[in-house]
Amino acid sequence: MRDSVPAIRLNGETFGVYLTADQIQRRVSELGAEISAAYEGRRPILVGVLNGAFMFLADLMRAIDVPCEVDFIKLSSYGDSKITSGVVRELKSVDANLRDKDVIIVEDIVDTGLSMQYLVDTIAQYEPASVATATLLQKEDATVADVYLDYVGFAISNLFVVGYGLDYSQLGRNLEHIYILQES
Ligand code: IMP
Repeated sequence: MRDSVPAIRLNGETFGVYLTADQIQRRVSELGAEISAAYEGRRPILVGVLNGAFMFLADLMRAIDVPCEVDFIKLSSYGDSKITSGVVRELKSVDANLRDKDVIIVEDIVDTGLSMQYLVDTIAQYEPASVATATLLQKEDATVADVYLDYVGFAISNLFVVGYGLDYSQLGRNLEHIYILQES
């Protein structure tokens, strides 16, 4: 399957397939099963981080079989660049009342980890019963923030990726596979 997926061009750069839709779906099902077992008898609220996590969140939620709620938060992102600014700002806060709730923060990717650290700190202020973290991807070598990740889909190399919700200058979110920047 992997070998039959052609490379793509986005904003003048070439990306090769890295994780196929099948691989992603298999891992998302496993994460859903883990979360379902861990939250048996509880009713977690998934807080998805816009924009990148919308696709992962939608699939993860369908893979969870305990009753659960959803809400969204939006942070400032890379803008149009491939390099993090290191400054995290909240562009949209959660609407739900998180007090005494079991919150699971759902990110597309943890790079430096600064966004996730900001999210954990911000959400803790709402006095939830618990806060857990889930991310589809983690660039382990790039993570500098001291933040605990409860659920990680894939540990990946420190290269820029697109697809399955992740963008490069707003393009590529609709791709079903995840692609990685080819080093020139
Ligand atoms: P962090 O704060 O450095 O961990 O960055 C997290 C955010 O940066 C993610 O939620 C993404 O929006 C964005 N990001 C980090 N790496 C990539 C990537 O390889 N492709 C697309 N977006 C990325």
